Amino acid sequence: MASSSLLGVLLVVSLVVAALAAGNLNQNFDITWGDGRAKILNNGQLLTLSLDKASGSGFQSKNEYLFGKIDMQIKLVAGNSAGTVTAYYLSSQGPTHDEIDFEFLGNVSGQPYTLHTNVFSQGKGGREQQFRLWFDPTSDFHTYSILWNPQRIVFSVDGTPLREFRNMESMGVAFPKNQPMRIYSSLWNADDWATQGGRIKTDWSKAPFTASYRNFNADACVASNGRSSCNSASSWMNQELDATSQRRMQQMQKNYMIYNYCTDTPRFPQGFPKECTVSQ
Ligand SMILES: *[C@@H]1O[C@H](CO)[C@@H](O)[C@H](O)[C@H]1NC(C)=O
Repeated sequence: MASSSLLGVLLVVSLVVAALAAGNLNQNFDITWGDGRAKILNNGQLLTLSLDKASGSGFQSKNEYLFGKIDMQIKLVAGNSAGTVTAYYLSSQGPTHDEIDFEFLGNVSGQPYTLHTNVFSQGKGGREQQFRLWFDPTSDFHTYSILWNPQRIVFSVDGTPLREFRNMESMGVAFPKNQPMRIYSSLWNADDWATQGGRIKTDWSKAPFTASYRNFNADACVASNGRSSCNSASSWMNQELDATSQRRMQQMQKNYMIYNYCTDTPRFPQGFPKECTVSQ
């Protein structure tokens, strides 16, 4: 009796420890720049980045990942965030790097943020799709997720898929699948292009600008020394969008997509990139 209840307590304790480790930002990330402007607070439960006229700030994951399902909750710069960019992305290193990007372009008070997405494979990007959000991303935390497996990359917001980049190697389009990536995030000034094409500048009287992060969760393969901890039995490894999710994504794109490189005719006078022939 006594020993079985002790066992029960130990089990609960170890489950709690596992849960804390999963979300603990201290254990998963290093602050990389910003000279004190980035902070990990509340025993690793909260991370804040800030930007002022002198500098922005940023962090990166301790681990490199090769495939995974990665969630982060982010609360973006509130008020007049024009000129600021909060970037949250996965990237490998080197000239032929792979990259999966979320970027949040600020705006003047009351005007909507732009959610910018891109995918680089073997150093080639230029695959921008942009969205409006259907909520105020500054008033609360929302979950931004990347599903990355050998067949597809899916960008989701609060569990709703917005974009899918499929593996189209069979059509000669490189797909990110050999280079481990780290997670990076930064808050920086990009008022030469970010807001309304660069016409609106950062209002430094409103600085410091702050973005917050919490509830990081990576169900992912950690890569180290060329080896991956991958468990190919993980459910997300073969995950695809079922018919309902496909319809949902199409509906979201219809309602909220504001830019798609695959429909930007003037940009591609010689014809669209190959992957655009499959609906992107
Ligand atoms: C900012 O607001 C304007 C006006 O609503 C809009 O045209 C623009 O796309 C918004 N976002 C950015 C990043 O400029």
